[in-house]
Parts: sequence; C-alpha cells; structure tokens
Amino acid sequence: MNAKVMEASLNTTDSNTDDFFAAVAEKSDGAVLRGDYSKIDDQYVVRQDWDAYTPEQHALWRRLYQRQAKLIPGRACDVFIESLEALNIGDGIPRFEESSAMLFKATGWTLVAVPGLVPDHIFFGHLANRRFPVTVWLRDPEEFDYIVEPDVFHDFFGHVPLLFNPIFADHLQDYGKGALKAMKLDGLGMLARLYWYTVEFGLIQSPEGLRVYGAGILSSGGEIEHCLTSPASLRLPFDVERVMRTLYKIDSYQETYFVINDFQQLFDDTAPDFTPIYARLKALEPLPANTLLPGEANLSLK
Ligand code: PHE
Ligand code: CO
Repeated sequence: MNAKVMEASLNTTDSNTDDFFAAVAEKSDGAVLRGDYSKIDDQYVVRQDWDAYTPEQHALWRRLYQRQAKLIPGRACDVFIESLEALNIGDGIPRFEESSAMLFKATGWTLVAVPGLVPDHIFFGHLANRRFPVTVWLRDPEEFDYIVEPDVFHDFFGHVPLLFNPIFADHLQDYGKGALKAMKLDGLGMLARLYWYTVEFGLIQSPEGLRVYGAGILSSGGEIEHCLTSPASLRLPFDVERVMRTLYKIDSYQETYFVINDFQQLFDDTAPDFTPIYARLKALEPLPANTLLPGEANLSLK
C-alpha cells in the first residue's frame, strides 16, 4: 500500500467499489487507476500472467534488484536479507506462485496477484486471512527512482521477505483484522499512520545498530541511506499512541522514523484493544511529522 491508498483510506470509511474508484480518482486529479481491473474476481484477485512480461521488463526488474541488493548489507534487518536470498528473485520478475509456496511453508501466508490499489475492506480482508496482495505491473524505466503507486517491485521486493518472520507475519494478520474493526470505529486514519511508520517506514534495533524493516524504505534507492544516517530526520522509540498521532510525509523522505526493539515489541504493543485509544486520540490534534515533544529523546546514531 502506498500514499494514495492511505489517503483514500482516510476518506472512504464506506468502502464499496464505486467509492474506492471515486476517491482514488479524486486524489490523483482525475487520473484513472493504472492497473487493469477488467478481470478481477470478487476479492480483486487476478492471475499473474507471467508470460506477458517482456524481456525489457525483466531487465528493468534486474536493474532495480541489483541497485537495492547492493544497499541492503548492513542496512536491512536480518530476516529481510536471509529471506531475500532464499527467494532467489534477482533474475527477473518472480513467479508469484513459486514464492507463495515457499512463504506458505514458512509462515502460512500466501501471495495473491492484484491489478494495483484495492479498496480498504478488500486489502484488510486479505491481510486478515494471511494473504498478501502483490501488484502485477512493473513501473516504466522513467520511474526507476520514484513511483507514485506501488508496483510489483515495491510490493514484492519490499514486503514479501518480512512475511517470512513468524512474529511479523502474525502481526500483519492482526493488523488486517484490527483495520476491519477500525473501519467501524472511525480509527482507520490512525491505523494508517501505524502502518506507515512500521510496515512501510519502520526501523529496528540490532546488536550492530539500527536496521530497516519498512518496505517503503527497502524498495527505495535513496531513503535506505537517509533513514539511517541523516541528522535531518528524527528517530524516536516506537510508541503506539505517539505513532497514531503523527502525520506523515508522502512526497519526501520521512522526517520522523519510529524504532522498535524487536518484532515481539511490535506485536505486543499493538495487541491491546485500541477502542479506547481511538476515542482518546480523536480529541487530540495530530502532530506534524517533524515534532520532538518535550522529554522525547532523538535516538543517537552509531
Ligand atoms: N489491537 C488492535 C485493536 O484492538 C488491532 C491491531 C492489531 C491493530 C495489530 C494493529 C496491529 O483494535
Ligand atoms: Co507498501
């Protein structure tokens, strides 16, 4: 998921299909969604027509892969590095079915192919059932560095390796269930911030220093370095309520990153019932993305 579907989330609590397309069209200045939605089933799932990818597209995937693979050592968390290696997807756009079978053996998750952004209730329904939706299309060569909607490179390279960690895998399923619940409690905007600052842009401690687990960073050529070294951004200890109050940037590097100690902390801290938290936070103003509150410590860099 990316900025646009997040933005759409904030505006579509009633999530039937027409609302979904209307909201996304509105958010992108009338532009239509990029994917081909003509063959979706009732869960927005399509077949990955692997044979339809061109040699140029596989070559572009390899270039994207190689750039990121060079940046990964010493920056990505261990499970990402290990799972990426095991997935063996450096040679071209992967066949979802093959990776899905590996993933299912590891953590009981499967991959489903989707045309692109899908409505909130569909997306969260997949997560709640341990299915991760992966966009089928690949960006154009001009979009090598920056892509507005998530493509197969972001969705697959960024997200899939983390799903091999059993705790993270359980967490993401709970997130899906929690988001379906939040839709009824007017809490989706807050949960979108949580997803953004963890699943997309999260940092994690390791004995050797900070590491990245967020897919938005791991699939980005520039932010992977910035997030670990730039004094221009804040790095704060993960705190559920602090995260759910914090606005985020969609068109620039993040100004704040939240750091978990380990995946168990992410799981445990998000396990309690959020109903009273939503009620409490709704009464507070959200915090700008670059806020350092009194008493908060910006984690020092090593
Ligand atoms: N514990 C949350 C609730 O009760 C659900 C949730 C779990 C949200 C995990 C995010 C991540 O609403
Ligand atoms: Co994403």
